[in-house]
Amino acid sequence: MPLWDGRFSEGPDALVLRLSESIHYDCRLYPFDLQGSMAHAKMLAHQGIIPQEDADKILAGLQQVKEELDSGKFVFKTELEDIHMNIESRLTELIGAPGARLHTGRSRNDQIATDERLYLRHVIDEIREDVRNFQKALWKLGKENATVIMPGFTHLQHAQPVLFAHHLLAYVEMLERDRERLADCRHRINRLPLGAGALAGSTLPLNREFVAKELGFEGVLQNSMDCVADRDGSIEFLSDLAIIAMHLSRFAEDVAIWFSQEFAFVEIGDAFTTGSSLMPQKKNPDMAELTRGKTGRVYGALMGLLTTLKGLPLTYNRDLQEDKEGLFDAVDTVDLVLRTLTAMLGTVKPRPARMAEAASDPSLMATDLAEALVKQGVPFREAHHQVGRFVGACTAKGITLAQADLALMKESIPTAVPEFLDIFDAEHSAAARDLTGGTAPAQVAKQLDNWEKKFTQE
Ligand code: ARG
Repeated sequence: MPLWDGRFSEGPDALVLRLSESIHYDCRLYPFDLQGSMAHAKMLAHQGIIPQEDADKILAGLQQVKEELDSGKFVFKTELEDIHMNIESRLTELIGAPGARLHTGRSRNDQIATDERLYLRHVIDEIREDVRNFQKALWKLGKENATVIMPGFTHLQHAQPVLFAHHLLAYVEMLERDRERLADCRHRINRLPLGAGALAGSTLPLNREFVAKELGFEGVLQNSMDCVADRDGSIEFLSDLAIIAMHLSRFAEDVAIWFSQEFAFVEIGDAFTTGSSLMPQKKNPDMAELTRGKTGRVYGALMGLLTTLKGLPLTYNRDLQEDKEGLFDAVDTVDLVLRTLTAMLGTVKPRPARMAEAASDPSLMATDLAEALVKQGVPFREAHHQVGRFVGACTAKGITLAQADLALMKESIPTAVPEFLDIFDAEHSAAARDLTGGTAPAQVAKQLDNWEKKFTQE
């Protein structure tokens, strides 16, 4: 019979158990459930609510349960529904009567809310670390190839020359915002719900501040109903994961494009590519594709939880139990993808000659030509128009901008001077973008240094 069987004359139907049990997935919360219970037991004794000897027995018993769980010897029982009742029941088996005092002043409603906050705090730290490692891998690839030039794209069309490292550092920036979001969310999560009881608080003289301190929370949640009804922390964290997954998916798409035969901008190590079961020649960027594909399930977890919460009256409703599987899956997915991409980056090698060839298309420097006119005092709109005419004239003749002579250039650009003929050089073009955030090698080197300092100061 379940631990709540007092008023029932028969046990639950087998189907009821199948639909309501959560132990097969919430078992992963055990370290946090134990942590919460230990702090709760200490507080109960500190407040004189239970005898100190009983608290000591509870703590020793929980330690024993922990060892069983850590070593994989613990036997989970589906009929005990969830991690809370599995642990409490085993504790009582081990230590007898004092075990029955642990749940004093506590409900599974505030217990699960506490477990989840402890879990979220832990996985936030893990994901932040994963993100940092991925940033370092991006940085390293950039640093090792600091002078490699490639075409930058808008609309997936050649736009302007950029440094390969500049492109990689763009992701380092995005991921830094992701890390900040996670750190920010961690503060809001880091508050104690325990002490709310089922929903209204307790008639017992619980000391919530004591428990908060014991568990390293930054404070105590101030409304007992909010304590048990709220899942904002999980939603906020999933939003952060969704944004990370979106960033990783964009990166994956860049890699897939760069790895295509048409681009052939990068090599990826054999250990991080896959073959085809039919076509012997194939080497596919499956890790990039899976990264892109797995974004869907992370978004799904966020949408699922938002939908579960929508329209739920206060306070605890059993619907809330559905908050876990999607969350765990999203954590596992983002963690695995980040670690795989980090390892894969270690095997990525740019092909500078291919990139330089693509970046040498003189039309990439059309903007530079217009800006040279601006430096002569020509209004930008007029300069843009003149250069556009020049591009049209070259296209009509079937030549590149670099193949035109001064006479042809002057037909569209009356103030053209011989130096304008030297503008069509990708390296010169990149180097000229020498302002904060620009792609000039000097600027990119500065950014690489800044990141290195940041990484080594941690
Ligand atoms: N396993 C439950 C959950 O995750 C714990 C809380 C159950 N509370 C209850 N009153 N049935 O939500």
